[in-house]
Amino acid sequence: MDFLKNVRLIQGGMGVYVSHWRLAQAVARERPGTAVGTVSGTGLDVVYVRLLQLGDPGGHVRSAMHALDQQYGVTIGKKIVDQYFIEGGKEPDAKFRNAPQHIVRPENGGNTIPAPGENKASTPLYLDEAVTELLIATGFAEVWLAKQGHQGKIFMNFLKKVELPLIYTLYGAMLAGVDGVIVGAGNPDGLPADRTLLTQHQTVSTSLQVLYREAGESFHVPFDPHLVADGRLTEKPLRPPAFLAIVSLENLVQALAKSQTEAPDGFIIEHHTAGGHNAPPQGPLVKDSEGQPQYSAEDEPDLAAIRDAGLPFWMAGGYSNHAQYKQALAFGATGVQIGSNFALSQDSGLKPAYKSAILDEIKKGTADADLVKTTMFSPTGFPFKVAQLAGTLADESVYEDRMRVCDIGLLQQRGLSKPAEDGSRRLFMRCSAAPVNGFVSKRGLEFNTEERRCLCNGLLSTVGLGQIVKKNGGTEEEPAIVTLGNNLDGIRRLSRNGQAQYWAKDVIADILDDVRTSV
Ligand SMILES: Cc1cc2nc3c(=O)[nH]c(=O)nc-3n(C[C@H](O)[C@H](O)[C@H](O)COP(=O)(O)O)c2cc1C
Repeated sequence: MDFLKNVRLIQGGMGVYVSHWRLAQAVARERPGTAVGTVSGTGLDVVYVRLLQLGDPGGHVRSAMHALDQQYGVTIGKKIVDQYFIEGGKEPDAKFRNAPQHIVRPENGGNTIPAPGENKASTPLYLDEAVTELLIATGFAEVWLAKQGHQGKIFMNFLKKVELPLIYTLYGAMLAGVDGVIVGAGNPDGLPADRTLLTQHQTVSTSLQVLYREAGESFHVPFDPHLVADGRLTEKPLRPPAFLAIVSLENLVQALAKSQTEAPDGFIIEHHTAGGHNAPPQGPLVKDSEGQPQYSAEDEPDLAAIRDAGLPFWMAGGYSNHAQYKQALAFGATGVQIGSNFALSQDSGLKPAYKSAILDEIKKGTADADLVKTTMFSPTGFPFKVAQLAGTLADESVYEDRMRVCDIGLLQQRGLSKPAEDGSRRLFMRCSAAPVNGFVSKRGLEFNTEERRCLCNGLLSTVGLGQIVKKNGGTEEEPAIVTLGNNLDGIRRLSRNGQAQYWAKDVIADILDDVRTSV
């Protein structure tokens, strides 16, 4: 992974579809090898199914699906297009048809798990073929599109918490030649080795968290690439992408560097001021008067210990100007990862209305601390940064007014019902942002549903792909939720205090400080 040593700037992965292929391509082609573009791998199946139902403007999805079929002699792409494409797009008030949820089943196809016998071998669970094919195809498509027309590097970002689709989307991305993988929101130990197995199309297993299992009982989802499309994807070995783990503190760096399986190739050291999800504070959760989790000196990484681990690292979270970039290099980092500055650039997938709303707040002089709050809204239980924009889920009245529904399910937990007389249990899925009764009926505590907001629907609306819901005799879009980092200095500077638009290439020039030579 020699190329990593030249990477000074990583455009951070921003889900869902904020860092889409257009943004990643704009970054990667600007300074090939120096600036890397990262596509988000989260929710791509849902995104692509919706783009097809919008009539696939520009024909990009269809081109990418066609490329998959051509390169590998399969019909997966065609099947997906035939199933979801609507010529000219759906009617504006028509609902999107959803991508199939990631439902796992035991071998017999039911949802009953027998009592664990004496032999507590791990129980295999399976996803439907249509789900795995869609995940592989959309992982391929997003990277294939991002890589068109330049020699720059493209990475893909994943959240470990969204554990089930990860391996299939990663495999699809590898089929398209992805250059790197970045995994955050959880400990990714084991995944670097899975990445290597997948280069030879070997079977990998995702061990699945299942709540209320018996002591010693475990579950896994096997993935054998030879079983997809009669093994046609497996004819040539794949190039291994670099693997970077997102961590906040030195302890996980040290543990992962000595992994029993395979160490990552490097780390993103992400501060809790970063946009998106953040690591929870060390120690017991203490909140301020506004309900924001409080961080302390214990949450600051020991950079000397990180350097001593001997693997390259990039600093993330509030590294928004050239001086901070130089400081990161002085700490021993290879470079920085930046999200928020890119999210507000014209190249990102964030819906223009939300870019304007944020720039308007900046123009008005709203302080960073008032514009972005750290919340416990995310069903993952991780802190999540939310921009305080009227009309979005940040607004209490919008949250109260929304009917809870869980129709996408990326953040669902899996669990087992109380045992029946014969000891068998039903496998269920639940989300703490779903209807409260449903959550409680699946052994959940009502307390854990408080504050939780539907990020799946919210984040899709943020990129203009929101579901249509019936309301007050008419229809409207699911309310959006916008995430940003705490430090908005870079956006303020690049947008001239909220007055001007800027592009990804301006962010790169601003950080690497060669504005004059780049124009
Ligand atoms: C809109 C937005 C969405 C994000 N989504 C993700 C994500 O899906 N996965 C992830 O690992 N990090 C995510 N991040 C974090 C970024 O990849 C990056 O590490 C972070 O933004 C760096 O801090 P900064 O915002 O201060 O530049 C997101 C950040 C933003 C601003």
